[in-house]
Parts: sequence; structure tokens; C-alpha cells
Amino acid sequence: MEGRMSFEDQEKDQPFDDHFSVQEYLDYFYSDVMTKYDEDEGVSMPWILDQFHRTFAGERDFGNRLLDVGSGPTVYQLISASRVCSEIVCSDIHQGALAEIKRWKNGGENVFDWSTAVKYVSELEGTG
Ligand SMILES: C[S@@+](CC[C@H](N)C(=O)[O-])C[C@H]1O[C@@H](n2cnc3c(N)ncnc32)[C@H](O)[C@@H]1O
Repeated sequence: MEGRMSFEDQEKDQPFDDHFSVQEYLDYFYSDVMTKYDEDEGVSMPWILDQFHRTFAGERDFGNRLLDVGSGPTVYQLISASRVCSEIVCSDIHQGALAEIKRWKNGGENVFDWSTAVKYVSELEGTG
């Protein structure tokens, strides 16, 4: 992240994309996704996925279409919802982040590997 400006320093007419590296974000926050340790939060991903699972495994009717605001380049937050909602719309001000999700969906080269998170949710659902 060296040499990057803070959000406050950014010129208003400069695209947000220029100051945020999708790859660095994924590597920094989500490498070793299920075991990643953070000083403040500990190992949080299993807990986060448990909460999404509990939310979407209930009887509640969520409708067919889900809007994810601020998707970033990640999909872990959508795994449980994808079992319930047939259409998921990802949104973000960062076009590169959305492009990364498209690459992942289309099976592009060297896409981020979310398979351990998907496997974890599948096991929660009893389908893994
Ligand atoms: C904390 S990140 C979360 C990203 C990802 N969902 C994750 O869990 O790692 C918040 C995201 O919201 C996006 N964002 C910030 N302001 C936004 C806005 N006004 N409209 C859409 N997306 C926005 C940012 O670009 C960033 O990707």
C-alpha cells in the first residue's frame, strides 16, 4: 500500500480506481481467507459466514433479487444469499472491483480463490 494517498487527500476529479488496488486489497484482507488473523477481530471469516448462513437459512422470504451495496471485489458475502436469491446485483463505486467479480464469475485467469469459503458454507448447509 506504500505511496497510496488517503481518501481525504484524493483530488475530487480523480477516479477512485486510481488509488485502490484490488489485488492488494484481496491479498491483504482475504489471503488464507478462513484462517486470516486480525489483531482486533481475531479469526473472523467463519463467524461472518455463520451469520450469513443463519440469516439466509431461515424461513424468511427475501425475494428473488438481492442488491449488494459496496460489493468490493469479494463474493464471500453472497454465498449463502446465492442459494436463496436467483439474481444478485453487485454494486460499487470502484469499477475495478466490479470487474474482478465479473472475472471470478467467468472463471478468468488467476482469479481470487474463494473455494475454502464456499466449502465452509456448503458444510454449514449440509451439502459439502
Ligand atoms: C468495506 S469495503 C467492503 C468491500 C467488500 N464487500 C468486502 O467485504 O471486503 C466497502 C466498499 O464500498 C464501496 N463504496 C464506498 N462508497 C460507495 C458508494 N457511495 N456507492 C457504492 N459503493 C461504495 C467501496 O468502494 C468498497 O469497495
